[in-house]
Amino acid sequence: IRVAILYGGRSAEHDVSRLSAANVLKAIDRTRYEVVPIAISRDGRWLLQSSSEAGVGGAGAPVSGDGVEIALLPGGKGRLVAVPEAGVRPDLPPVDVVFPVLHGPFGEDGSVQGYAEVADVAYVGCGILASAAAMDKDVAKRLLREAGLAVARSVTVLGGDVGSFQEIAGALGLPFFAKPARQGSSFGVSKVKDRDGFEQAVETALRYDSKVLIEEFVEGREIECSALQRADGSLTVSLPGEIIPAGKHGFYTYEAKYFDADGAVVKVPADVPAGVAGKAKEMAAQAFRALGCEAMARVDFFLRADGSLLVNEVNTLPGFTDISMYAKALAAIGIGYSQVIDVLIEHALA
Ligand code: DAL
Ligand code: MG
Repeated sequence: IRVAILYGGRSAEHDVSRLSAANVLKAIDRTRYEVVPIAISRDGRWLLQSSSEAGVGGAGAPVSGDGVEIALLPGGKGRLVAVPEAGVRPDLPPVDVVFPVLHGPFGEDGSVQGYAEVADVAYVGCGILASAAAMDKDVAKRLLREAGLAVARSVTVLGGDVGSFQEIAGALGLPFFAKPARQGSSFGVSKVKDRDGFEQAVETALRYDSKVLIEEFVEGREIECSALQRADGSLTVSLPGEIIPAGKHGFYTYEAKYFDADGAVVKVPADVPAGVAGKAKEMAAQAFRALGCEAMARVDFFLRADGSLLVNEVNTLPGFTDISMYAKALAAIGIGYSQVIDVLIEHALA
């Protein structure tokens, strides 16, 4: 089975994707699969990488400009072709399945999934609609709320129409968060404590997206469940793990996540009462279904002191980095990394 692993990409999470891909490339069983690593440069070129080199190095999987520039041929049963500009036309194989190890826009949002659909090739993970819905925090919250799941209160801001600080603070209290609607890894997210911080926060979020979510600050712990669906449709949800922010970061920022060894502690399973863990698992399965997810997702929650849970977000291509929760939480219930990949590929091909 030939598996094209896509990573890098055009989103702000390019580097995170490379870290995720390094782990996927390490864990995938090469006796079962022939791996075709395809790095997507920041400007969107698909570059075929050497299979033996990919998966090594601390900076994540390589994005070597020496790679032949390729494309998936639409309607070609997943055939890879060298784009004419590459000058060479090596004998490129068709691929059986595409594994987008991409985070954020152009990867996690249904766009690559749509491309794979058009090219008529199987792909790992959620379909177009679930990917798009989960990526958009505004749309996702509407669907989750509709399914009866508790979510944080928020106001959606379109374009530059930010509304007044006073009204928002009146409705949501202080502090609150400003977040780009379609972004991951906390890019463009700020905590707003006062009027001075407000405009700056909205401006920062608008750099990533024309749609911004202003969300209440929820006092609570961050816990996350991994959901893995098998080819027969059965869904396994892990026990929750916990992200314990530490050090100087006021919340789980991009820096705290990936670049500060002391930025946060990932604890699996979370030290929570059995009732809370059970409730989180149940809500994770409901959220997975509410958004129409398939194959995998990581569902993130806030756990308040009174034991109540709010769904924060659903990630359809959760991180696979060293510090990421998705694989860790599954490993804790006995599903190892390579097995997760097997299940995902089987699901894609089913
Ligand atoms: N967006 C990052 C990769 C995550 O949710 O894990
Ligand atoms: Mg997230």
